[in-house]
Amino acid sequence: MNILRVRDYASVSEKAKNIVLDRISDFSDTTIALPTGNTPDMMYSLLVKEYQSGKVDFSDVVIFNLDEYVGMDPENPYSYNYYIHNRFLKHVKTERSYVPNGLAEDLDRECEAYEDKIKEEGNLDLALLGIGRNGHIGFNEPGTSFDSLTHVTDLSEDTMEANARFFPRDLDFPEKAITMGLKTIMGAREIILLASGNEKANAIREMILGEVTENLPASILQTHKNCNVIIDGDAASLLGNST
Ligand code: GLP
Repeated sequence: MNILRVRDYASVSEKAKNIVLDRISDFSDTTIALPTGNTPDMMYSLLVKEYQSGKVDFSDVVIFNLDEYVGMDPENPYSYNYYIHNRFLKHVKTERSYVPNGLAEDLDRECEAYEDKIKEEGNLDLALLGIGRNGHIGFNEPGTSFDSLTHVTDLSEDTMEANARFFPRDLDFPEKAITMGLKTIMGAREIILLASGNEKANAIREMILGEVTENLPASILQTHKNCNVIIDGDAASLLGNST
């Protein structure tokens, strides 16, 4: 793991944006997994700005969203499909983009098809990740097998509590999601995880310094050959001087 400590949230976003731009210009036909959440928000605006000023071209980039809520209409403003379109995909021209369909009648088949699609596209070159405060990545909650592929998962109480903040009261918070599995994510040639704020400090400490355990899904990243972790001072606050 390569730990990049930067000052604040804006610097996390700037650094992540620069790495994405580098990778896109280094390779043609890049396949990228993208996260949702508050953390990558500013990185997406920066990428869109660069695109609008003509400094970057995503036309040979293929996008896979990491996850989606089960039962959520893609047009629903709280769906991850809506998020990624609204923040990023509607502003830039990509080659192709995919988001799991949380309304699929046969969810297991949807998961298999998603996994197959990633293979067909030549596997992931880059996976961008956020992290949940319980150490989840994508929606791989504590206890998820390190061998997991794209699958349907029950959301943990902690995740539902953390994410329900963004939901209106009259909309029931989904209890399940489709997520790329840990093995799917680990199959990416490069991984970049972003974290900002005190709320993530404990998960970041465990991910970097703790044991590699399915109880803290992000700890698997210690075993990836090319993983950059970009964190601000608050997210790094429990790391001491050890990294
Ligand atoms: C959700 C997503 C994750 C994301 C996490 C943290 O659970 N499935 O991919 O990393 O939230 O989100 P935030 O960046 O808003 O803290």
